[in-house]
Formats: sequence, structure tokens, C-alpha cells
Amino acid sequence: MSISLSTAASLYDRVRRVIPPIEWPAFTDDIDAILALKRERNAVVLSHNYQTPEIFHCVADIVGDSLALARKAMSVDADIIVLAGVHFMAETAKLLNPGKTVLIPDLGAGCSLADSITASDVRMMRQRYPGVPIVTYVNTSAAVKAESDICCTSGNALQVVESLGAPRVIMLPDEYLARNIAAQTKVEIIAWKGHCEVHERFSPADIRELRKAHPGVTVLAHPECPPEVVAEADFAGSTAAMSDYVGRHKPARVVLMTECSMSDNVAIEHPEVDFVRPCNLCPHMKRITLANIRAALEENRHIVTIDPGAAERARQAVERMLAI
Ligand code: 13P
Ligand code: SF4
Repeated sequence: MSISLSTAASLYDRVRRVIPPIEWPAFTDDIDAILALKRERNAVVLSHNYQTPEIFHCVADIVGDSLALARKAMSVDADIIVLAGVHFMAETAKLLNPGKTVLIPDLGAGCSLADSITASDVRMMRQRYPGVPIVTYVNTSAAVKAESDICCTSGNALQVVESLGAPRVIMLPDEYLARNIAAQTKVEIIAWKGHCEVHERFSPADIRELRKAHPGVTVLAHPECPPEVVAEADFAGSTAAMSDYVGRHKPARVVLMTECSMSDNVAIEHPEVDFVRPCNLCPHMKRITLANIRAALEENRHIVTIDPGAAERARQAVERMLAI
């Protein structure tokens, strides 16, 4: 059944594996209100894979990793996009939909990577390495994207770097993503010093302990994890790539070295797989709730705007990525 025709009562079956019956009544009023508001206002909810299951499985129309959300945002046929994710994702949706209203339910939903670099830092790197192309992770502000040649996500970073045909590439701002890509290519990568506050906390020792406690467990890691963690994992990829891996390989037991809600959301799709769940919470992603999604639709807040001085160049950097 499509989400738009559902009611909260008909949705509980989807999430019963991860939301206990005692917690469910706390969500139903907001879910029904959001489903009705979406119809009234011709709105869609885009949800990142790190959103909690009552958002991801019960009110979202479009779900995915940063790359999928950017791609799918381009073909949205609605007046309003509510971005259940963090601010840079809402900015990307706005860049690709300048004529639509894009709402983010909490303006404080930021990202430690986006906060690690400014537009003037990017200009400084361009001066320091003249002629070296600059690839910027989508986890950045529009102002930073505007100073870049092309964007990438964790899902296409290697492809983007190699598409440039350059011997050296600057990759900003995630040092670990840059080093993880450097390990897979002959292109020399110049990195920045940004880190994801969620993924930098995983260590190789965590993986060794997990393997000891759960013999045979398959370990999947996000490429924002330190390279030493990726080296000990069985597979590294974007949130969508980790989800696809579970679907394709159906490991008996798996651990996702990433944000906590990922395991809940993927476990719902694969009841036959046992998920071991050490994880780290992203405090920014967790600022988005059913209550503030409902308020966003009721009060038309918070409207995402982009500095006109940066918008066109930032859009070009995103569109170059999407054209690959
Ligand atoms: P993905 O593009 O892999 O979904 O990652 C986004 C993100 O913020 C990971 O921390
Ligand atoms: Fe940013 Fe890390 Fe949170 Fe993703 S998980 S939004 S990279 S802080």
C-alpha cells in the first residue's frame, strides 16, 4: 500500500519488529496528521536512511542515501518537500528545486563535516594547489559547494574522482573518506581535516571485539569511518550500498558500523538477518521527529533559502556530479 493512502493503524505491521507495541500509540496521532497534511498541501517527505523507523517507514515518500535523495529530489512532483535529514540535504534539494518550497523541520540539524570547512578555506586550497580540481562532499554548505568544481557522495566518490582525468585531486572536507578513496585509486588525493563525529568513534578494536563475541558476523562500515576500520570490515559503502549488501548477500548475522537507525530500518526489510547493534547516534539526524515534521507542514517552517550569490555555482557542482 502506498504511504499516501495509509493510516497509522495500517502501518504498524511494517515496524512491529523494531517499535514495541507499548511505544506505538505515542506516534499514531502525528503519523495520521502528517499523512493528511501531505495530501492537503501537496507535499512529500524525503527521508535519509538515518531517520528513525516511524519516520522512515511510516511518513516518508522517498528514502535513501544522500545520492539517491539528491537524484530523486529532481523528479519530485509536489509543491513542498520536507527534508527529514540534515541541513545540507535540504539545501541540495532546494538547489535542485529552486521553484519549490523546501522545509527542514529543525534548523539545528547540522553536520560536523559541513561545519569543518568554509568557503574561504576552499579558496585557500585553490590558491595553494593551482589547477588541481576540487571535489567536495555533499556534506557541505552551498557556499562551500559554490567554490568547488564538482560534488560527490559516499556512493560515487571514486567514480567522481576518476572521472576528472587528473593526476591529483583535492577532496574536501572528510579526511577519512578521502583516505579511503585514495586506497582505491592511482589518483593522488589531497585531503582536508574534517571528520564525521559519528563515524570517527569506531575503531578496529571494536571490530575485533565484535568478531570475538559474534563469530562469523559480517561487518559493514561506512567510508566516513577511519581507514583502519574500513580495512578490517568485510565491505565499506554508502548507507544505500550497505543496505543493498544485506539484501544481496543475506548474511546470517551482520553489524553496520554506522548510525543507529540504519540497522532498524534495514532489519525491517530483512527479518531473516540477525543484526548486532553497536552503533553511534547522530545528534543532528535525531533532531528530526514526527512532531517537528508535523509542525513543519502545519506552519510552513523552516523554509530553506540559499544565498543567491552561491546558488548557481553550487547547483552546477551538484549537477556535474549527477551527470556522471
Ligand atoms: P550516505 O550518503 O552514505 O547516506 O551518508 C550520509 C551521511 O551523512 C553519512 O554520515
Ligand atoms: Fe554529518 Fe556524520 Fe551526522 Fe552524517 S552521521 S549527518 S556525516 S555528523
